[in-house]
Amino acid sequence: MSEPEVVYLKDYLPPAYTVETTHLTFELAPEDTHVKATLRMKRHPEREAGVPLELFGANLDLRAISLNGEALPDSRYRIDGERLIIDDVPDDFVLDTEVVIAPEQNTALEGLYRSNGMYCTQCEPEGFRRITWYPDRPDVMAKFTTTVIGDKATLPILLSNGNPIDQGDLEDGRHFVTWEDPFPKPSYLFALVAGQLEVVESYFTTRSGRTVLLQLYVEPQNLHKTEFSMGALKRAMKWDKETYGREYDLDRFMIVAVDDFNMGAMENKGLNIFNSSAVLANPETTIDAGFQRIEGIVAHEYFHNWSGNRVTCRDWFQLALKEGFTVFRDQTFSADTNSAPVKRIEDVAVLRTQQFAEDAGPTAHPVRPDHFIEISNFYTLTVYEKGAEVVRMLRNLLGKETFRRGTDTYFERFDGQAVRVEDFVNTMADVSGIDLGQFMRWYEQAGTPRIDVAEEYDAERQEYALTFRQHTPATPGQVADSKLPLHIPVRMGLLNGRGNPIELAVGNERPGHEMVLELREAEERIVFKHVAEKPTPSLLRGFSAPVILNFPYTREQLAFLVKYDVDGFNRWDAGQRLAQEAIFDVMHAIQAGKAPTLDDTLLDVFDYLLKTPDRADRAVLAEMLQLPSEAYLAGQLAQVDINAIHDARAFVERSLAEQLHFHWQALYESNVTKAAYEPSFEQISHRALKNVALSYLCATGDEDALALADQQFKTATNMTDTRAALTQLVHRHAGKRADAALKAFEARWSHDPLVMDQWLTLQATQPHPEALDRVKALMAHPAFSLRNPNRVRALIGAFSQHNHVNFHRADGEGYALLADIVLQLNKSNPEIAARLVLPLTRYQRLDEAHQQLMRGALERIRNQSLSRNLYEVIEKALA
Ligand code: BES
Ligand code: ZN
Repeated sequence: MSEPEVVYLKDYLPPAYTVETTHLTFELAPEDTHVKATLRMKRHPEREAGVPLELFGANLDLRAISLNGEALPDSRYRIDGERLIIDDVPDDFVLDTEVVIAPEQNTALEGLYRSNGMYCTQCEPEGFRRITWYPDRPDVMAKFTTTVIGDKATLPILLSNGNPIDQGDLEDGRHFVTWEDPFPKPSYLFALVAGQLEVVESYFTTRSGRTVLLQLYVEPQNLHKTEFSMGALKRAMKWDKETYGREYDLDRFMIVAVDDFNMGAMENKGLNIFNSSAVLANPETTIDAGFQRIEGIVAHEYFHNWSGNRVTCRDWFQLALKEGFTVFRDQTFSADTNSAPVKRIEDVAVLRTQQFAEDAGPTAHPVRPDHFIEISNFYTLTVYEKGAEVVRMLRNLLGKETFRRGTDTYFERFDGQAVRVEDFVNTMADVSGIDLGQFMRWYEQAGTPRIDVAEEYDAERQEYALTFRQHTPATPGQVADSKLPLHIPVRMGLLNGRGNPIELAVGNERPGHEMVLELREAEERIVFKHVAEKPTPSLLRGFSAPVILNFPYTREQLAFLVKYDVDGFNRWDAGQRLAQEAIFDVMHAIQAGKAPTLDDTLLDVFDYLLKTPDRADRAVLAEMLQLPSEAYLAGQLAQVDINAIHDARAFVERSLAEQLHFHWQALYESNVTKAAYEPSFEQISHRALKNVALSYLCATGDEDALALADQQFKTATNMTDTRAALTQLVHRHAGKRADAALKAFEARWSHDPLVMDQWLTLQATQPHPEALDRVKALMAHPAFSLRNPNRVRALIGAFSQHNHVNFHRADGEGYALLADIVLQLNKSNPEIAARLVLPLTRYQRLDEAHQQLMRGALERIRNQSLSRNLYEVIEKALA
């Protein structure tokens, strides 16, 4: 393929023409939907007259085009790739077009497509151009009016953004509904849905006393899975008013669940469209983590109504402006609704495992990238998760109240506008008086900063000093020398020998037991005065900045922090570090051909946690009792040996299981509940602890333990317990028991694709060498389809991301399988193909043999004709 065009942030120009109003008419038909568009356009005040008009379009069959009512002859316009250019247009004009599109043929799931016979749209980031010719960029905001025409019998429900203003019957059994959205919006927030849908309704009364109609549209078989999301939506609406003073602005808020969807969900104005996996839940079908994920996503999309829709992005480089901020908002919502420390632990685990890996690999990019080939490739962990951390740091620096004044001012200043990251950060600087010039580097520099900390204690002067040295390693396109020091908030405290917090004294400041240090220089030394004994520092509490911080803790100090630190996150983190060291000891012993042993300190800590379970809340305890994942551990090593990590982790797990057997048994029994299932925080923590205990019991491979798992599987009344038990049976390779349970599960759930996804995943992630053949066999199972992104993620995504030992098989068969599938998806769904391929690009720290196999698989992909999406990723990976 010819080299695709690269788009640069520095080349930004405002659009030459803006759209005041957009009138759309859809006549729906699977193979030939007619789309008529009437755009009232105007020259942009900052652009000179006479600039050609540029519209975007893809896969459109243009049937008519006229300007101010006069049909344009072919000579008046030209089509060049995705652009339609009209050379001379007046300052004010009306453009009419008619195109034909084929939703039925749209397997990319961008633009207008069909899912189970339903019509739906996905326009972010650049899908609207697959619907009609348009200045499809977020800084063009128009008022939309949309008429949807369809067959009344098969498409009784016709939806679009805003409010319905007209409807009626037409000839030939058709009907129409006209929708009007009073809020100007960019095209990426446009939505249309048509189909045979049931609706669940409820109401929400805003603080100002307006009643909002809440509607959840689902296919009839899913009506029993709507209750939880409706509740979550109301909780989110209430929270956003209380926490950010934000109220909903339309008379109705609609959510539609669709089965075929590339992402989790989409915040279209007044008409959110959700992947059914991100909204449908029921105790029998959905695990606890699923409920929590859904609550977070429902809230996230709702929150976008302000952070994204009312205030939107000037261009797609500013994506983190809406996504980083909105992820931060949904994270704090979930923290306030459930357990704050557990939510923080989970979010940091994702960041450190996945985002740090992205930052360390060939697709690393800044939170605000400065160039791209395909913007769909930039909906990444860096933009989302690191983007949320950057907003969190602003709150750490400003304090909660000033941060709130900042967000109020931001929403007020920029309501109805398309803005930049600078507008957000400058507002925070304005309200706080803090200079955030250096802070902007967080948006511009890729890579995870490292901070090495050294201590000195002067007993005579009773002074304790910490020296912080920060540096950010090179990333593609940014050499190490170009990386400048960042403005980093480090929340910290000091503990004395009895585990009590020390009163801090720095210079003339007496901040109390805890403070936020603000690092700005490459090296900084901070002296704490009146420190009567050498303390243990508790650094980066709550993970106050997205960095790798190294302090030379002894194992005793880590155990001490697990027991005494006041910060729930740091207690967990100390335990994880200790576990990591114990696992690496075992790994080194195995590699040296020596007999491994379990570290005593780790055993003591587990023993302590299990004996004094009340010291932590149960949900935090369940986190503390789990060992770091193989993926996290791999990220801590310069040279990764996949099998050695797996074996060492399994050894430590088994040793803890055996040596603390009695405790695990007791923990299991004391957390069995008889109460009817609720996805409440209280119950979730009991189930989490019980199922962690089950996992350790089964880690020994004991027949008794597997019988217990079998019994739990057979008697469970909710999916959390069912799935935990089935996972043990399959992952511990319980032979006939596992086979029988898998069959029983399949027989019971074959009608429910979202449940069968879980069945696919837990087989794809089994550590046993049989996994690869199982995955191949399951690709032929009726529950699988390469056409549905959820199925692909459940089987292939899970295998390549969460089954390290089998994906990285020495014979390269794991890589070959992924490459084959990526090549198939390259044609049908490029966005999914470009995401799915990412595990193949993470070869930097593996040994030479694996690196060659992975590069070989990537080269095989490169030899085919690639979509822009895949081209960009593969070129970076092989650069
Ligand atoms: N705006 C995105 C959806 C989106 C992403 C559309 C990429 C087009 C391309 C939406 O707000 C979002 O971020 N969804 C997340 C879930 C969220 C809880 C982080 C998703 O879909 O994964
Ligand atoms: Zn979002």
